[in-house]
Amino acid sequence: MNEKQLVGEKTVEYISDGMVVGLGTGSTAYYTIKKLGELVRKGLNIKGIPTSEQTAALAVEQGIMLVDFKDVKQIDVAIDGADEFDADLNLIKGGGGALLREKIIANAASTFIVIADSSKGSVKLGAFSLPVEIVTFGAKMTSQKIAELGCEPKLRLNGNQPFITDNGNYILDCDFKQIESPVELERQLNMIPGVVENGLFVNMAERLITIENGVLVEKTKRIFNGASG
Ligand code: 5RP
Repeated sequence: MNEKQLVGEKTVEYISDGMVVGLGTGSTAYYTIKKLGELVRKGLNIKGIPTSEQTAALAVEQGIMLVDFKDVKQIDVAIDGADEFDADLNLIKGGGGALLREKIIANAASTFIVIADSSKGSVKLGAFSLPVEIVTFGAKMTSQKIAELGCEPKLRLNGNQPFITDNGNYILDCDFKQIESPVELERQLNMIPGVVENGLFVNMAERLITIENGVLVEKTKRIFNGASG
């Protein structure tokens, strides 16, 4: 079994009958959704809120009942992948272009669990170019303003055309090298008019399921003395 499948399937242990579950996007969340589908077919009763159109299609194919976001009072657990994580469980997300809905759903969930293979760990975030979702209107100017923060934004393409998110926006992939303060960069980016959201998920994840030295491990957010759980 590959690492993505191991962590993706492990996380269903946090799901029980009656829960509303935020369903992530990407090749790791794929395994969670497939496994949940298997359990639903055996009688598990859950409702899903998908973070992308792609995930919605997969969930429906798997027989997972979806619920409209406006009809739920709370999301019990959100499960999603990440492009990069650090020891504080801060993340870079959006490699699949779904960062806006992913962030809304992770923020709304009582518990947000991240699943990531061993290649995603970093001492400092920034190895993965930070995806920033922007509105198409004035995109060039928005891109210039982002560049002033210390990167060269690259418009994400789909073939020869700009990649368009599920929300009708563009994505700029921004290589900041090492991100010294994710919390400050997140704030600065989101203050630029035209920026809809960025892929920094700071202080959001409560649990990380990953692989270390070939062994599946679970980590909770690091506390003051630097020890991780
Ligand atoms: C999509 C995401 C994904 O969670 C992230 O890109 C990780 O993807 P994968 O599990 O395929 O490595 O943020 O917007």
